[in-house]
Amino acid sequence: MMFLPQLLKKIETGEKLAVLTCYDASFARLMARAGVDILLVGDSLGMTVQGHTTTLPVTLEQMVYHTEAVARGANGLFIMADLPFGAYQHSPQQAFAASARLLAAGANMVKLEGGAVMVESVAFLAARGIPVCGHLGLLPQSVNQTGYRAQGRERKAADQLIKDAAALGAAGAQMLVLESIPSLLATEVTQNLRIPTIGIGAGPGCDGQVLVLYDAIGLTEKPPRFSKSFLPGASDISAALVAYVAAVKSGTFPGPEHETPT
Ligand code: KIV
Repeated sequence: MMFLPQLLKKIETGEKLAVLTCYDASFARLMARAGVDILLVGDSLGMTVQGHTTTLPVTLEQMVYHTEAVARGANGLFIMADLPFGAYQHSPQQAFAASARLLAAGANMVKLEGGAVMVESVAFLAARGIPVCGHLGLLPQSVNQTGYRAQGRERKAADQLIKDAAALGAAGAQMLVLESIPSLLATEVTQNLRIPTIGIGAGPGCDGQVLVLYDAIGLTEKPPRFSKSFLPGASDISAALVAYVAAVKSGTFPGPEHETPT
């Protein structure tokens, strides 16, 4: 079994973490063999698996179902699971009850979206033995407010994001996903924080990278510009996963063409 302390040790040695979303046991098995560090049971499954246009319809029951499936194939690999929209924003107590379901299903850490507004819940969970990953920048669960647009490009928004990151870290978050923000901002946040950052469309300065599996193996019709399919040039899907891990560890992904413009 891989627990958080062993994972964090890798980062202390300067190793980048390769993270992929994972929704089922078969892919979990392939990812374990490919050397992926964290399997993220992302609520992006609402789009990739269920065919919705947003993550908003995904329920806690569905997240539990997919987390259990991933855990059966993961062979002890570290599993992070998303708290879905509506299952945690109401109160720390609601967040605890939902997180407990995900941990019982096999997750080692839960991820939630939002900054200052989530600080109380993060502290509540952390004090009760639940590892928490924050998520800042583009927040897919807030798409009705923001659309799918890059975030943190204006100074005021960048300053707010830096404050939110510090507040989440101080509250006890032990990892932070940064989505669709300029590389310089992600690097600044990473350098300011004592916890690892995992970037998606946030440039090479983060401590690790995450991609949506279906983007990484070329299944997405209109993939975001910050993503890359590792299937071209690979003999099969397993080889594509191995290529993704190698590219993250060596720092060749993300390249300048995947960065969010400032
Ligand atoms: O659900 C998901 O796929 C995610 C990634 C975008 C980080 O949260």
